[in-house]
Amino acid sequence: MKKLIIANWKCNPTTLKKAKELFDSVKKITKHLKDTKVVICPPFVYLSELIRTSAKSLGGFVFGSQNCFWEKSGSFTGEISPLMLKNLGCEYVILGHSERRKHLKETGGMINKKLRVALEAGLKPILCIGETKTEKEQGKTKNILKQQLKEFLDNSMAQLVVSEVEPSLNHLILVYEPIWAIGTGDSCNPGQAAEVLSFLKELLSVLLNPEILKNIQILYGGSVNSDNGLNYINTGFDGLLVGAASLTPEFPKLLTKLI
Ligand code: 13P
Repeated sequence: MKKLIIANWKCNPTTLKKAKELFDSVKKITKHLKDTKVVICPPFVYLSELIRTSAKSLGGFVFGSQNCFWEKSGSFTGEISPLMLKNLGCEYVILGHSERRKHLKETGGMINKKLRVALEAGLKPILCIGETKTEKEQGKTKNILKQQLKEFLDNSMAQLVVSEVEPSLNHLILVYEPIWAIGTGDSCNPGQAAEVLSFLKELLSVLLNPEILKNIQILYGGSVNSDNGLNYINTGFDGLLVGAASLTPEFPKLLTKLI
């Protein structure tokens, strides 16, 4: 399976012109990638134009959105549905990002509903989990990750079985994104990240049948740049979720290392 490098532009840039320039800088490199697929996740407002103008490009990249709603259509002012995104040409959707949980008060239950509908609409969810600095210092990392996975996948604290959604979960991308590493420059030590990776694999092997498990990719995110990115790939992660560095020349530099 190809490694996934995901660019989460977050709430940037502020003009379509800059978004196109940023996209062009990435596109130049992606056409040379063989074993790596790049997922570009711009703000909603740029998606349509970037997808349209990229139709004749040489590839190596696809698009994702940074969020979606938990219904396919209806009276939900201001929301964007997963079906709209799928029909627009999006392939992926980021769900459960800690910034949405913090600033928009998204709960495990909301993320669980979004996950189900995104899967139904045919989008591939990029599901983020991660602990805070305090939780890490208190030695709670594994418990927190387990709890988040339970809530997001099933919304049932009592039960680890994901029966209903399981058939389509083979499109799931799971990202270990420690909250303390996001936007801080304090990236997780690759050795520690590898320990978490083994734990997540073990946990998923209890949750899911082997057929589904073999398709699930686990990524690392949190202060990734062109210097540290490959360390996570080399310790066994299937790719990276990149924030701030995806808005700078750091991103093409990272991709160049994967050619
Ligand atoms: P940074 O790469 O800026 O730390 O952000 C990570 C992130 O939140 C990606 O979703």
